Amino acid sequence: MAKLKVAILISGRGSNMAALIEAAKAADYPAEIALVVSNVAEAPGLAIARKEGVPTAVVSHRDRPDRETFDRAVSAELERHGVELVALAGFMRIFSPWFPTRWAGRLINIHPSLLPCFKGLHVQQQALDAGVRLSGCTVHFVIPDLDAGPIIAQAAVPVLADDTQDTLAARILRQEHRLYPLVVRWFAEGRVSLAGGRVAVTGAAPLLFSTDP
Ligand code: GRF
Repeated sequence: MAKLKVAILISGRGSNMAALIEAAKAADYPAEIALVVSNVAEAPGLAIARKEGVPTAVVSHRDRPDRETFDRAVSAELERHGVELVALAGFMRIFSPWFPTRWAGRLINIHPSLLPCFKGLHVQQQALDAGVRLSGCTVHFVIPDLDAGPIIAQAAVPVLADDTQDTLAARILRQEHRLYPLVVRWFAEGRVSLAGGRVAVTGAAPLLFSTDP
């Protein structure tokens, strides 16, 4: 069976991207990474993708007059590579409503909190300030509102008494690297469906819990 063509959009270090590329190396993985797009030419993740032989494109937001023009340029790259699923992984650009509408149901993101708690930036500090005992990461469909789309799957980790932003971020990131490849697999296997704004995942548990340090 043909593998699902996935694009990953990054702006920075690209560790989630690397986890997806690694997962897709397995012969029985049902998705292939067809393209990595960055809006930042110096994003360290681009070098990793190139080294892995994954096609890359840089679409800078700097030389575009408005958000939608940028979105359309990204979309043109995705279409050129026959992309069927778009996975945001540390992509630090806010879309115009045009992009999530164009890719509705085929655009997902990973966020380092248990949404709907702690949207936006400085997420681990928000979690520490709130005193929560659990945090984690969420893979969700992207809609025009930031960090607000229907949730597909989550992974939870404990928040420890002596955690700093960095220790909590690292614990969550390890789960991100497990969760994102799993969700992309489910998507490629046709197990993820979205109807009336609600997500169903068939034949798999969309919650991971880790007590790893
Ligand atoms: C991750 O924590 C992800 O959840 C958030 O941005 C970070 C990106 O890290 N959206 P990386 O570039 O994948 O290493």
